[in-house]
Amino acid sequence: MISEFIVNETDTLQRVLQIIDDSSGGVALLVDRTSGVLQRVITDGDIRRAFLKGDDSDSCLDCLPAHKPVVVHERENIDRVRSLMKEHSIVHIPVVNDAGLPVGLYRRDELEENVLLSPPHLGTDEMTYVTEAIETNWVAPVGPNLDRFEKEFAVRVGSKSAAAVSSGTAALHLSLILSGIKRGDRVACSSFTFVASVNPVMYQGGEPVFIDSEPDGWNMCPKALEMALLAGKNDGKPIKAVIAVNLYGQSARIEKISELCENFGAILIEDSAESLGATYRGQSSGTFGKFGIFSFNGNKIITTSGGGMLVSDDVEAIDRAKFLATQAREPAGFYQHKVVGYNYRLSNILAGIGRAQLSVLSERVESRRKIFDNYVSDLEGLGIEWMPELNEGYSTRWLSVGCLPPDTNLGVEAFLDHLLKRGIEARRVWKPMHLQPLFTDCSFFSHSVEDFSGSLFERGFCLPSGSSLSQNQQQRVIAEIRDYLS
Ligand SMILES: Cc1ncc(COP(=O)(O)O)c(C=O)c1O
Repeated sequence: MISEFIVNETDTLQRVLQIIDDSSGGVALLVDRTSGVLQRVITDGDIRRAFLKGDDSDSCLDCLPAHKPVVVHERENIDRVRSLMKEHSIVHIPVVNDAGLPVGLYRRDELEENVLLSPPHLGTDEMTYVTEAIETNWVAPVGPNLDRFEKEFAVRVGSKSAAAVSSGTAALHLSLILSGIKRGDRVACSSFTFVASVNPVMYQGGEPVFIDSEPDGWNMCPKALEMALLAGKNDGKPIKAVIAVNLYGQSARIEKISELCENFGAILIEDSAESLGATYRGQSSGTFGKFGIFSFNGNKIITTSGGGMLVSDDVEAIDRAKFLATQAREPAGFYQHKVVGYNYRLSNILAGIGRAQLSVLSERVESRRKIFDNYVSDLEGLGIEWMPELNEGYSTRWLSVGCLPPDTNLGVEAFLDHLLKRGIEARRVWKPMHLQPLFTDCSFFSHSVEDFSGSLFERGFCLPSGSSLSQNQQQRVIAEIRDYLS
């Protein structure tokens, strides 16, 4: 916050020293007491020179000589900020508005560091739980953190039962096994997603059928799903399960999808890897189907470095998932196995990180939503089409996602390359599965004559959205985008 750097002529040298010491800025900004207009920047060197001149810590700031500050105006080109720093051999430049009031502060170190897409954001309790696990020797895929993480998670999303596993992919794989998906079975899956949503179908030897997105929320189009379910029924090879992906922090139109699954006898699995914290009509994403899966990969809204969760109201199915995830070892006094098992359980140490992360989920959602809102308001007028939020839904805005204006001749690759060259990590949206060479033989049901998810891929991008993104970092991203698009 810029206010933490602001002082006026009645403040003392002692106070400025305190500000420089306490704040991340490394300087204080002297403003006129009545108008608030910026007068000068004060560094610790200025204080040293004042002491050498005979002033003491109680001297007021009017003892400092006048010094016209180097400033930039809002929305200044970042390259210009950098070149001013170089030209004047300074490492701080305040940003002022048209009235000359300070509204921001550029620091050279911040301009030089890379802005990442969605880095992990650790809190304060992770170390406590991890240390506890190590001190009590629960360094295994069993232990109190694991039990509590599952219980706390189930309560948080409002599910009867949960199994913590090594990844979201593992959770999805288990959900397909528990749904009885076998070789040759048809499974409908959102096309606009990451490949991990469909890889487990391939592990089971299933046949993916890809469903396009709808324009309203960019997730699975219920109309296209209905066509796929009908086609399956008509040609005697019904779709057995539907994987509805809740992308970029937003629930799909899940009630309609759930109704269709019920009508056609298909099992609904929600891939909520990216939507923990989101809701649809107030109900948590991931709890509408028979199974829901979540990911705690390093880039997700909360992370365990790597991990996942399978949830269901079917407590017996979740018990079975835990059994399968621990090599399907039968309860005997020796190693007895009747079915193929997997090594999929989460470790008790990582579950400790998960517990701490889960406790701050609401704050993380708030931060990400705020970041999205800032992009929308500060990039207004450039024609960017932002991912719409469904009326019934509440998105976490896990990633801030948009599309370049339809009438632009600027390519999305060149746009992202421009940002990357300036140390900003932004990415294209997922390339739909029906356009992947891996799935050329699979069928695809489009939203209309238009391949909607294909068109999103042509123009879509994801901007830095991590909950630890600072205001300055975001302003840097915004300035670069403005600069490029205007
Ligand atoms: C939509 C989607 N599904 C599934 C996964 C798989 O999760 P994990 O990486 O934990 O295996 C991810 C993310 O990584 C994802 O984004």
